[in-house]
Amino acid sequence: MAEAAKYNGSEGAVVPAEGHGAVAPAAGTAVIATDAVQNPGLPPHRKRVTDLDPKVEKRAERTVYTLFYVSIAGSLGAVLAYMFFPIESGDLWDIRLHTMFVGVGMTLSLLAVGIGAVHWGKAIMADHESIDERHPVPSDSATRAEAVEVFTLANEESGFSRRSLVRNSLIGALIAFPLPGITLLRGLAPQDQDPVTLLKHTMWEEGIRLARDTGGYGVGGAIRAADVTIGSVFHVVPENLSQATNLLDEKAKAVVLLMRLEPEKLKERDERKGWSYDGIVAYSKVCTHVGCPVALYEQHTHHLLCPCHQSQFDVTDEAKVIFGPAKRPLPQLPITVDDEGYLVAQSDFQEPVGPSFWERLK
Ligand code: FES
Repeated sequence: MAEAAKYNGSEGAVVPAEGHGAVAPAAGTAVIATDAVQNPGLPPHRKRVTDLDPKVEKRAERTVYTLFYVSIAGSLGAVLAYMFFPIESGDLWDIRLHTMFVGVGMTLSLLAVGIGAVHWGKAIMADHESIDERHPVPSDSATRAEAVEVFTLANEESGFSRRSLVRNSLIGALIAFPLPGITLLRGLAPQDQDPVTLLKHTMWEEGIRLARDTGGYGVGGAIRAADVTIGSVFHVVPENLSQATNLLDEKAKAVVLLMRLEPEKLKERDERKGWSYDGIVAYSKVCTHVGCPVALYEQHTHHLLCPCHQSQFDVTDEAKVIFGPAKRPLPQLPITVDDEGYLVAQSDFQEPVGPSFWERLK
């Protein structure tokens, strides 16, 4: 059997590798080059300006704790912005101000604490190189005592105990920076209404006309039954949507898709026979899986597709789920026409719209 060998510098010649005897290996066996890259070791330690000049060190310390205070100010600023720029009015300008100031506050909070920590490590903490040998596990008592010593030394060198302003401001910054996140959770629970009741009802009620959804805050004209041709689909909101206090919240619950099919294609239970009008049906556009807008209508198959996780609903069969993760049909809005031929709601939805989760709270 051939032994490992070293290339000796002259073409075609090899020498046995260390510890492998003096027998030359056969041609074609692996060789180890003698000019392998040597470990260059650590470069010589260079002192930083903060190591040499106490004034500069003091200035660096000031910078660090100032950054930590800026972080505290940013966190508190975000909380104040949340309170002083409420979005309850639903006004777009209020929402923009709210988003901007809360965002600026949180950005300051995170950036300043991050930059402060890096600057502390780079400019003030001891920066000499050290080699930490790997020890067997578990450590013996001597090693543990050594660890305590290392922590004590690190504490002394970083000045964590000694530099009380830096330490306290860092602790303050770390306590303050989760506050904006916690404060934002407040927005999930409206002050004056039970969130479950709020999510169970929409703006639809008897006699409210179905109007075109023109996007954003827009409400288009009311829709006549005669405008809805077979195969067409309309994105619909309540005609009185612009009077809502929380327009976007109300719109998110009340959006509806309106389609017309040949009446004989509809499979309707007896109790739902009066919910459609001459083949025109209206279903909630909010997917019952996790609430994406179900906005894709396939005219030939009469299937509605949710683009988020591909749930499909059969419009001919009360929007039942035929594919995908959604667990219940899209709620149907009972509709009819008024004296002038406009499509109107007969009532609100008969069940909560949106993710199935709400069904369990009935
Ligand atoms: Fe519609 Fe997931 S949200 S399928």
